[in-house]
Amino acid sequence: MRLPLSLLVVFAMTTLATAQSKPAGPAVKDEPFGTAPEIPNPADKAKPIRPESKITAYTLVNKSGAWVKILTLGGIIAELHVPDRDGKLGDVVLGFDSIDGYLKDSPYFGCITGRVANRIANGKFTLDGKEYAVPVNNGKNSLHGGTAGFDKMVWKADASLSAHGPTLKLTYTSPDGSQGYPGELSCVVQYTWTDANELRIDYSATTNKATVVNLTNHSYFNLGGHASGTVLDHELTLAADKYTPTDDSLIPIGKIEPVAGTPLDFTKPAKIGARIKQIKADPVGYDHNFVHGDKNTAEPKLCATVTEPKSGRVMEVRTTEPGVQLYTGNFLDGKVKGKGGAVYPQYGAICLETQHFPDSPNQPTFPSITLKPGDEYRTTTIYKFGTAK
Ligand code: GLA
Repeated sequence: MRLPLSLLVVFAMTTLATAQSKPAGPAVKDEPFGTAPEIPNPADKAKPIRPESKITAYTLVNKSGAWVKILTLGGIIAELHVPDRDGKLGDVVLGFDSIDGYLKDSPYFGCITGRVANRIANGKFTLDGKEYAVPVNNGKNSLHGGTAGFDKMVWKADASLSAHGPTLKLTYTSPDGSQGYPGELSCVVQYTWTDANELRIDYSATTNKATVVNLTNHSYFNLGGHASGTVLDHELTLAADKYTPTDDSLIPIGKIEPVAGTPLDFTKPAKIGARIKQIKADPVGYDHNFVHGDKNTAEPKLCATVTEPKSGRVMEVRTTEPGVQLYTGNFLDGKVKGKGGAVYPQYGAICLETQHFPDSPNQPTFPSITLKPGDEYRTTTIYKFGTAK
């Protein structure tokens, strides 16, 4: 089923008038969310990397009244309201109340990261015998697509009601050579907020020249509520029995090693805080790529389960990707002012960034992230929210 947006808006306005209590869905609403300034292009003044753009926030409400707010800036998941064991909705993602926070202070809260999520060593890689340089923005490495990655781009949006729940289709075409990456890359990221409280993210991309691509979503989850302190009490299970060890700058050393006998073993449920201090890193915390496969699967498979004891909220993560970055907000330090004035402390959230492995373009033994013209990049991740007793 597909309804015109005007109709959906009327539908939504009546339902969202009571949004804080128990809105009736399904519905889609859009509203202005400020303006993102131009990012100039030093190489071509006439073609800014990002023209000054008005940003829209889309609210998708499912049948049960649970809802998600997504921005056209970076495809950011700004709010996600799901029930606790008593049916009370709570916002389980970190974020900001206004666009200023996302423009100035955001450590990638909720966004789509790309063209290549995570790190590329020294901002360099070779593809088909040619060396490419991408922006170095994290020590000596390139992180999350560079200084003007997909998190900073403005995506074209198309909202509708599908048979599975409200959906938002985001599209963005990254010009050939942007941030140093070859090929014009046409991307589609479709969010579907299903009636079963699943946030399904379907990514696809095509290119006109050989290139590299590895997209993910960088939501910071706290199932106790975004302002409820640390996630050290959350219980985590991962389907992965291996990980990719790194050097001090978080670049993989090229090996895939067992988690058994290390603080990274989450093959059985364990509290995030139970062994976190045993991690040898600065800052201390989980920031590791876990390996649960060696290629994409046809259907999304369970890779992670997170349970928060007080609220009873449970999140299951399913993906077609072979890896997932577990990041526990080690770099959060209570300095950014979050939604409603919330202070986000170190370990204030858990990110589960489904992905191919970090630094893949420089790691011949890792599954390839090369995309050739004529081929389609396709990947799906589902974050499903439920409750336990
Ligand atoms: C990823 C990285 C972390 C950190 C965050 C953003 O999860 O692996 O090291 O850079 O992004 O702060």
